[in-house]
Amino acid sequence: MMSRKYVSLVVLMFLCFHASITEGQQAIYEDPNQPIERRIKDLLGKMNLEEKVGQMTQIERTNATADAMKSYFIGSVLSGGGSAPKVNATPKEWMDMVNGLQQAALSTRLGIPMIYGIDAVHGHNNVANATIFPHNVGLGVTRDPQLVMQIGGVTALEVRATGIHYAFAPCLAVCRDPRWGRCYESYSEDHTIVQQLTTLIDGLQGIPPGDMKGMPYVHGKTKVAGCSKHYVGDGGTVNGINENNTIVDDSTLYGIHMPAYVNSIAKSIATVMASYSSVNGVKMHANKQLLTDHLKGKLGFQGFVISDWQGIDRITSPPHSNYTYSIQASVTAGVDMIMVPYEYKEFINGLIDLVKKNVIPMSRIDDAVTRILRVKFATGLFEYPLGDYSLVNEVGSQTHRELARRAVRKSLVLLKNGKPGNPTLLPLPKITGKILVTGTHANNLGYQCGGWTIEWQGVSGNNWTAGTTILEAVKKTVDKKTKVVYKMNPSKDYPEKTNLDFAIVVVGEVPYAETRGDSTNLTIPDPGPHIIENICKNTKCVVVLISGRPVVIEPYLDKIDALVAAWLPGSEGQGVADVLFGDFGFTGKLARTWFKRVDQLPMNVGDPSYDPLFPFGFGLETQPTSQTTDTVKLEL
Ligand SMILES: *[C@@H]1O[C@H](CO)[C@@H](O)[C@H](O)[C@H]1NC(C)=O
Ligand SMILES: *[C@@H]1O[C@H](CO)[C@@H](O)[C@H](O)[C@H]1NC(C)=O
Ligand SMILES: *[C@@H]1O[C@H](CO)[C@@H](O)[C@H](O)[C@H]1NC(C)=O
Ligand SMILES: *[C@@H]1O[C@H](CO)[C@@H](O)[C@H](O)[C@H]1NC(C)=O
Ligand SMILES: *[C@@H]1O[C@H](CO)[C@@H](O)[C@H](O)[C@H]1NC(C)=O
Ligand SMILES: *[C@@H]1O[C@H](CO)[C@@H](O)[C@H](O)[C@H]1NC(C)=O
Repeated sequence: MMSRKYVSLVVLMFLCFHASITEGQQAIYEDPNQPIERRIKDLLGKMNLEEKVGQMTQIERTNATADAMKSYFIGSVLSGGGSAPKVNATPKEWMDMVNGLQQAALSTRLGIPMIYGIDAVHGHNNVANATIFPHNVGLGVTRDPQLVMQIGGVTALEVRATGIHYAFAPCLAVCRDPRWGRCYESYSEDHTIVQQLTTLIDGLQGIPPGDMKGMPYVHGKTKVAGCSKHYVGDGGTVNGINENNTIVDDSTLYGIHMPAYVNSIAKSIATVMASYSSVNGVKMHANKQLLTDHLKGKLGFQGFVISDWQGIDRITSPPHSNYTYSIQASVTAGVDMIMVPYEYKEFINGLIDLVKKNVIPMSRIDDAVTRILRVKFATGLFEYPLGDYSLVNEVGSQTHRELARRAVRKSLVLLKNGKPGNPTLLPLPKITGKILVTGTHANNLGYQCGGWTIEWQGVSGNNWTAGTTILEAVKKTVDKKTKVVYKMNPSKDYPEKTNLDFAIVVVGEVPYAETRGDSTNLTIPDPGPHIIENICKNTKCVVVLISGRPVVIEPYLDKIDALVAAWLPGSEGQGVADVLFGDFGFTGKLARTWFKRVDQLPMNVGDPSYDPLFPFGFGLETQPTSQTTDTVKLEL
């Protein structure tokens, strides 16, 4: 038993220490006028091992009780895909949740704020009624760095409007094989387009005042920390198999998959996420050469490296079969923050044990914590840890939707317009007799948005979030005198029995995300192909394809009068109707090669045997028929 004298001494020491950081003069780390590096050094010097390991731990919101935050000094919380405080949570309810967890973090001994992260990958896509932008595959078509920067700015604002500080974006994958289910998260097969569109970072984080030499930069309360992912080579796996092996020579690795990370660091990206995939057989989560020597050493990245979801578990096969090894291999390789996200006690105890046994040196822990604190200081979390309720109305605002609608217009690619010997079909007339809008994707907002929308794998239907379907958009666009008939899947003889001027057929892929989205045949599911065949054989038709990548279309091409690739446009279907009916012209150019048959894959621009259906860079143009001007007014 401790003597009473000893106990009082301990209590006295505690009180003195506590007073020195709460009452007496401000600690150096609490002083916003001190340089960040000085604040980090001061704070790190005050932290014990448990507090340091807590900073390296990111847990899922379902595990993040106030008690867990306090007892384990948790440094970061995330929402997995679809993980909301409740179904249809309002921005205020999101902010209440985040602020509550922040209060718990602030109540710990040193009061280090936590950072909350989320996959805001095409707008703030987990949040009901947020503005949903086209997925990256569509943004690549625009080749418009300014537009993508503005999208980053709006996304940051909507994320902050729910109290959240950190977005796991941009995805800088250079998708080299559309069989990969995450291909829609990639801007292009061409790394120069991916590099150009790293301007998303400028929008998310703000533009740094000068060369920050790899230091993270996040400008103020309406910006968020970004995350370039998935480092590196995620888009180059064998046969496009998710999380698989990327077999590359140095010129492919450093010439195709790496360049956008160099741009990101020049833009002061705050964090980088390791890829589940391997490079030449070495798991990226355990790849010291690429994480530590190259990214942090050669490229000078000073922010933190985060793991992917249970990414360290998957270092071993089967996953989580030797978690001690997973912790050791990932932290030693240079992963700084671990997205655990559930079994955090096992991770924390495991890491503490490895440090106590000198398997992982304290210098590695200190480096990881320094990097994490650097991002937290840069993000202003010590100065304004709590969300600002005056921002809640920013989510899904009309101005933001106007920007998304513009992005949709610019992301469409016109692949065919008229059969040989016939006049062009597009732009469509607004005044006509009777038109048919048909297809599985014509009136389905969930399908139109794709994966990573409300739920991880996406949703079906119009009741999940706000927006405009393509059907609704067509109805709003045509003249009152024009009769619009909608049939999702009309009977085989329908067009024969009726007097249609033309049909708009909207079909495509159903939503998917990683792994489940991998496809070996790249066909659009039934009844999509049947609807094309039935309608297009009897009436003039424009087919609008909703898909995350090029799909098999060659067998139907002769029957189709006009073909538009609309990718995954998001919540603002009005952008599709704006261009179909000529208020704006088609301008988009393919940022991917459109194959004829899957047995040609992988096939990318520049390949020696290149025989595409539509080559990279292809896209027909139309002139606008009216003098509509684009009037998005944004001050970001
Ligand atoms: C979303 O918007 C709809 C109207 O379009 C409204 O009924 C619903 O309450 C909103 N949901 C949230 C979570 O704000
Ligand atoms: C790649 O996929 C194959 C087939 O599914 C599997 O056997 C192999 O383990 C995977 N490789 C990696 C590195 O994940
Ligand atoms: C787990 O990995 C560690 C570190 O490499 C090793 O020492 C240990 O034997 C492994 N345990 C099992 C059960 O394979
Ligand atoms: C974390 O949450 C998951 C899912 O709700 C649960 O299964 C698990 O037991 C929790 N882990 C801890 C350490 O509380
Ligand atoms: C939307 O409708 C589907 C099918 O009726 C239902 O299962 C789902 O819960 C609804 N979603 C919301 C957010 O209400
Ligand atoms: C294509 O593959 C999917 C599984 O990825 C399968 O469900 C579907 O039936 C296949 N389609 C055809 C036409 O073979």
